[in-house]
Amino acid sequence: DVPKIEELDKKYKDLILALPKEEAWLPFPMRNYKGFWQHEQLLYGTMAMEEAFHPRPSDVIVASYPKSGTTWLKALTFTIMYRNKYTFSSHPLLKLNPHACVPFMQYFYAARDEQYLETLPSPRVLGTHLSYSILPESIKTSKCHIVYICRDPKDVIVSHWHMVTRFEWSFKEPFPFTRAFELFCEGRTPYGPVWDHVLEYYMKSLHSPEKVLFLKYEEMMKDPIDGVIRLAKFIGCPFSEEEMKNGLVKEMVEFCSFNKLKDLDINKNEGIGNDCFFRKAVVGDWQNHMTSDMAFKLDEIIKEKLHNAGFTY
Ligand code: A3P
Repeated sequence: DVPKIEELDKKYKDLILALPKEEAWLPFPMRNYKGFWQHEQLLYGTMAMEEAFHPRPSDVIVASYPKSGTTWLKALTFTIMYRNKYTFSSHPLLKLNPHACVPFMQYFYAARDEQYLETLPSPRVLGTHLSYSILPESIKTSKCHIVYICRDPKDVIVSHWHMVTRFEWSFKEPFPFTRAFELFCEGRTPYGPVWDHVLEYYMKSLHSPEKVLFLKYEEMMKDPIDGVIRLAKFIGCPFSEEEMKNGLVKEMVEFCSFNKLKDLDINKNEGIGNDCFFRKAVVGDWQNHMTSDMAFKLDEIIKEKLHNAGFTY
């Protein structure tokens, strides 16, 4: 339902068509907007959102670079936030994919359906893949909270490649992993470069820890209970002693676990593509796709880009 570029108002059309274009990441052309690549067709959504989005102080924004654990973080945040509203036996996540429970704001603006976001009751949980610098100013000055998840870039690119090649029929030419890897190392991927994306949220979390909670996929996998406790506290819904004693945190972790979510009918549905958010969920799957030289090359790039900030994965 997203309008084509030619159908947009002249103001947006001219702006978008003047931006640097990249067609390497098939099947969608990307444009470079303020230093980050985005699908051309969604850019209108970004611009419209920049101008018009009104956050509520109680909003929680789930932010991520794609394939870093967004679906999981959305499920966890939603479950924590609404734990007094829904029981596990009749929970929306049993019938809806996490992305349907936590909508990507930009997509609704792109489809000119942003009114939907206004109809959601407070507190809202909303999603974005936009980098921090591109977020609307209104989000930055509001009291709303941002939770961000990052993941080892080697696993991110493997996960991303698997996702897009599911739609290989729409590619004009073969898209081997080595090609996706090259583009990733050059920062030429949707919402990339990944290092700038991570860096912006990381720096913001250091300078304004009350605004951005910075989570790592690998740490969440190792100790999800600790991650969920931190997440709940950050978004202003800490667990009570009684909840902790009753094992609620563990129950939530299990409810949102990969094995539980991926086996739900709604998430197995290939027709609407929901299954593409649930593949393997393994830390270090890159070892099955990259040579050690490739891994070394990407690690070196990331180190060089991020070491000044003191960031390591
Ligand atoms: P893999 O492709 O490595 O399996 P995103 O949600 O940002 O699109 O990221 C998708 C990645 O997160 C996929 O990784 C997917 O399997 C994994 N994932 C999805 N749900 C998960 C969950 N509940 N717990 C852990 N990982 C999950």
